[in-house]
Amino acid sequence: MAYNLLKGKKGIIFGALDANSIAWKTAQRVHEEGGTFVLTNAPIAMRMGQIKDLAQSTGSEIVPADATNEDDLNNLVSKSMEILGGKLDFVLHSIGMSVNVRKGRQYTDENYDFTAKGWDVSALSFHKVMQSLYKADAMNEWGSVVALTYIAAQRSFPDYNDMADNKAYLESVARSFGYFFGKEKKVRVNTISQSPTATTAGQGIKGFDGFISYAEKMSPLGNATADDCADYTVSLFSDLTKKVTMQNLFHDGGFSHTGVSQEVVDAFSK
Ligand code: NAI
Repeated sequence: MAYNLLKGKKGIIFGALDANSIAWKTAQRVHEEGGTFVLTNAPIAMRMGQIKDLAQSTGSEIVPADATNEDDLNNLVSKSMEILGGKLDFVLHSIGMSVNVRKGRQYTDENYDFTAKGWDVSALSFHKVMQSLYKADAMNEWGSVVALTYIAAQRSFPDYNDMADNKAYLESVARSFGYFFGKEKKVRVNTISQSPTATTAGQGIKGFDGFISYAEKMSPLGNATADDCADYTVSLFSDLTKKVTMQNLFHDGGFSHTGVSQEVVDAFSK
């Protein structure tokens, strides 16, 4: 159901790779709610992905940008304002990649060049995106910036590897930048800590299937899907959440505050 919550609002959506991507579902929901946006992804991901289909169905233009490259980001921000005809109201950072995970390097055997690359893509890129927006004065007052994160930033999940550290950094950037963006431009900055979700990035994590079933059984409301996450993001882009900022918001069916569930106890009872 659509409520016109984003009528007249303009923005940028990072990270739609394929129809499973959280950013893909979010773009569709934002479109349904009347928002207009530029889609962006790393040039290499675009060649592999199906982003053109999404652009067509949402009436959007695509501007490629490697989120680790400041020139690309500055170009993206100025082109987006040109295309959309003014300043922006929302930005979604939905980007993550660990080279150590991809190459099967365990947390106790990191290759630090891989670590640095993964940190740049998954964590520092959030600062870079916001700094580009901030310096270009590209956000309207009461605009909203959202990035996606995972509870491995607070608790240990062994196979999440160095992405746990990247997410901790990302969440810290939301608080730190959120202060300046709020104080000086009345822009809010939050992270959504999402349930495990079957996407390309999610399935890169070892043992993901067992893990997603465990989370499902541990969450009183069940796992939040990518579609649920899109809905939540729409609410954070809307005018109904104007004073929510610098928060890490758990969107996980209650997983983060559950000690144990009956299903998990039953699985261990004789
Ligand atoms: P996805 O694989 O569909 O999206 C990740 C995106 O990052 C891709 O579109 C990829 O092209 C983009 N990307 C990688 N390097 C880039 C670069 N240098 N510049 C620009 N873009 C780049 O997977 P998903 O799951 O939709 O991931 C979105 C976000 O959600 C990530 O931050 C991820 O960590 C987070 N998240 C995912 C969960 C899951 O279980 N899938 C759970 C909690 C958070």
